[in-house]
Amino acid sequence: MERPNINDDIAYIIASEQQIKEKVEEIGKLLTERYRGKNPIFVCVMKGSIHFFSDLVRQFDDYCEIDFLASSAYGNGTVNNGIVKINKDLDMSITDRHVIIVEDIMDSGVTLNYLTGVLNSRKPASLCIVTLLDKPERRRCAINPDYCGFVIDDKFVVGYGLDFAQVYRNLPYVGVIKDEVVARVQNSK
Ligand code: IMP
Ligand code: MG
Repeated sequence: MERPNINDDIAYIIASEQQIKEKVEEIGKLLTERYRGKNPIFVCVMKGSIHFFSDLVRQFDDYCEIDFLASSAYGNGTVNNGIVKINKDLDMSITDRHVIIVEDIMDSGVTLNYLTGVLNSRKPASLCIVTLLDKPERRRCAINPDYCGFVIDDKFVVGYGLDFAQVYRNLPYVGVIKDEVVARVQNSK
């Protein structure tokens, strides 16, 4: 039997490599204008935003610093169970600093609602949210991104950092995973 190809698990692409590249450049320019001379701290919310983060900071054309935070909200499913945990906190102090949180996707908003609460309690000079993808239909918290790459429908997406059961983060584009693949993985647990 032929081995399956990872790309065959994707039903369709919603943001191609080229579309992502253009969008990242656009947001990078806006952030450069807004934060020029402010030496902001870009916060990468691991693991999902690694590619977006890495591409975005390279489009920021001024001095800045970076730090990493790891949180988890989902188990191996596709529905937020409402529990957010910080698995790795920032190394730096953000008090009196301009902070830019870089997230892969906003879904229910539970994660960012929790994270912005924690970070705001440390009294940053300012805090803004940048997300590559936004699914506003599914919002359960009163929170919205300051900058968003693509507003998408209520579909589970993978690629460019986003995973399903930890797989597909390496795809260079964002696509909707086939229902049959989700069912196959869930049935094998
Ligand atoms: P929220 O707390 O419901 O807004 O979900 C935020 C986190 O859930 C994101 O940072 C992602 O890690 C994950 N997530 C939400 N929707 C998707 C999706 O469609 N694909 C992969 N991960 C997702
Ligand atoms: Mg995430």
